[in-house]
Amino acid sequence: MNSQNPSPSAATHSTRRSFLQAAGAALASPILVSAAAGETRKIKVGLIGCGSVSRMYLPHLAASPWVELVSVCDIIPERAQQQADRFKVPHQYASLDQMLAGASFELLVNTTDMQEHGRLNRQAIMAGKNVWSEKPMATTVADAQELLDLAKTKGVRLWGAPTVVNSPAFQFMAKTLAAGGLGRVAAAHAHYGHEGPNWAAFFYQKNGGSLPDLGVYNLTTLTGLLGPAKSVVAMTSIVTPTREITGRGTVEVTEEDNAMILLDHGQGVISHIQCGFNYFNPHGHEGRNEQRHTLSIVGTQGAMGLVGYDWEPGGVELATPQNPEFKRFAIEQNGYRWEEGASVAAECLATGREPLFTAGHAVHVCEIMIAARESQASGRRIPLQTTFQWPVVS
Ligand SMILES: NC(=O)c1ccc[n+]([C@@H]2O[C@H](COP(=O)([O-])OP(=O)(O)OC[C@H]3O[C@@H](n4cnc5c(N)ncnc54)[C@H](O)[C@@H]3O)[C@@H](O)[C@H]2O)c1
Repeated sequence: MNSQNPSPSAATHSTRRSFLQAAGAALASPILVSAAAGETRKIKVGLIGCGSVSRMYLPHLAASPWVELVSVCDIIPERAQQQADRFKVPHQYASLDQMLAGASFELLVNTTDMQEHGRLNRQAIMAGKNVWSEKPMATTVADAQELLDLAKTKGVRLWGAPTVVNSPAFQFMAKTLAAGGLGRVAAAHAHYGHEGPNWAAFFYQKNGGSLPDLGVYNLTTLTGLLGPAKSVVAMTSIVTPTREITGRGTVEVTEEDNAMILLDHGQGVISHIQCGFNYFNPHGHEGRNEQRHTLSIVGTQGAMGLVGYDWEPGGVELATPQNPEFKRFAIEQNGYRWEEGASVAAECLATGREPLFTAGHAVHVCEIMIAARESQASGRRIPLQTTFQWPVVS
């Protein structure tokens, strides 16, 4: 999914569809009707981190009827300038300090390096901003939990990527499980990998790694479907000790680029995820057009497989004792896009609707990733403390 060659036109197309639907739904919202006689309240948005993923976020935000793009920021000022020009954003800054002192905004969209998220999210919340953060929200559980507590104290909202629970395929699977469609659930597996990004060193440095970049999707999906995990056992490794980064040269890899995690969800349910930056993918870096199951769940009365990756699923297949051949359900995407999180956050701030993704879920997934590294270091099974509101069903 890392988007060296994003396709803004495709993103914009399905975006419009989703916003038309969202706008239609919002017309029925009492909050909107009373607040704005026919007008949509727009949330003033500032985006920090004008790199690769901002090229996917900004078109989506720019097309949203709930968003007024006020400012962009990057420590590399040319990047902020370029995105401001492209998306007609009136203000640009070179630091969060400048941004917070500049044009007023309500929602910070944080798409900076993973190691910067916790610090910047905290500073923005302290300044009274709502925050949508790329993953991970922070690099320690204490910091992630502190962000949650601070957001409550300050009366602002905090949300974090990924948005996998929003996909209609996720919802189909969640409802199938809730209806007992697989009988007694026993086990699940998911995987996601490619050959690794080549445009930024932070992916390979301390507190970067393939877990918060890639494994985070499967962990969010499986905990979202099977419930919060109770404990973790993991192995991680570094397969490729150095990487070539465009414009930077050779960098040493100091965080895992290969990981396998076992999760205990309680009541006998066990799942496994694997991810890495050393996975040859015949479908290319982005893995689009993957037609096999990348995620499977099995129970006493059925088996279910997700076709394609969970951030952009192609459908769900189901087999039961009555219909033992896998049957594919082509699920209408309804405008779902993996890069929609910040736009959905803005819509929710504007309308009062609660999104399916929650900060509590993001913090739980943070804890799993940190516990996985602890398990590798100690050789032990690590109990987990955090939990989140479950099931995640619309
Ligand atoms: N690239 C993708 O397709 C993709 C997809 C999904 C999620 N993500 C996530 O998005 C985040 C960013 O990834 P990316 O690929 O866009 O990286 P990137 O290196 O292309 O962009 C990050 C940008 O943030 C800027 N930055 C760093 N620290 C900053 C600070 N303190 N203040 C202001 N700007 C700062 C950098 O200069 C850079 O321009 C990561 O968490 C990544 O896991 C990326």
